[in-house]
Amino acid sequence: MYIFRKVTDLQNHLNELRDAKQSIAFAPTMGALHNGHMSLVSKCNRIADITVSSIFVNPTQFNDKSDLEKYPRTVEKDTTMLIEHGCDVLFYPEVDEIYPKGTESDNNYDFGQLDKVLEGAHRQGHFAGVAQVVNRLLEIVEPNWIVMGQKDYQQTAIIRKLLSLTNSKTEIVVSPTIREKDGLAMSSRNVRLKEDERREAPTIYASLEAVRQAYKTISVKEARELAVKNIEASGSMKIDYLELVHPHTLQTITDWDDAESIIVCTAVHLGDVRLIDNISIP
Ligand code: PAF
Repeated sequence: MYIFRKVTDLQNHLNELRDAKQSIAFAPTMGALHNGHMSLVSKCNRIADITVSSIFVNPTQFNDKSDLEKYPRTVEKDTTMLIEHGCDVLFYPEVDEIYPKGTESDNNYDFGQLDKVLEGAHRQGHFAGVAQVVNRLLEIVEPNWIVMGQKDYQQTAIIRKLLSLTNSKTEIVVSPTIREKDGLAMSSRNVRLKEDERREAPTIYASLEAVRQAYKTISVKEARELAVKNIEASGSMKIDYLELVHPHTLQTITDWDDAESIIVCTAVHLGDVRLIDNISIP
């Protein structure tokens, strides 16, 4: 695996590959890699000749600075995992390489309502930061495909919109959420859960699945209340939101027939760890 820390070195390498008619799939990450990320790498391997991944803990998407500081950094382990899973190129830049001369504050995309709800309503400026860094990474890597995980459903909706706003030639590919055996969605934040919190955490997915079971047997309102009650019953979890939303607009639905498929999504605090998850139903 080639590892580049400088934009120009990476671009020279990728230009040679493109001249040799190699297609490129790109899986951006913030490191602290787990099998969820590896499924993105495997997807890249399947759809393109060359798999590029990046590790960059993007400061502009953290509304809470202590969350940025606490974000796990495990680059040596990450590098080994990427090699083992057949990644061809890793881009691992310093902040100055991504945001030269204080460009950190430049961002100005209009996502309409997409970034106002769910995560957007609870994490001011988060998606502006995500869009900013993804746009910058796409300018640098110029991949044929960007591969992202369904676990960050709203993020995939924002990036799809970004690609359309910027008339990008890159296509987005969304890869399914990878779960632990007990259902907990894999996340870099899971390592910060204490033992008892880790035991509680699968309730989040189980509660989303309860909505699937209730699909069209009770009202949307009742199904939502059922999931909320399940999570709250643990006594240790605090819900930021739990909503049933339209898959494209992310607006809350009130009737099962408001959309052909529905995304049930939640964000939950467990101790000082904030976890998100979603499922698509039916
Ligand atoms: O999903 C993530 O890890 C990040 O939001 C991303 C897409 C790498 C941008 O920093």
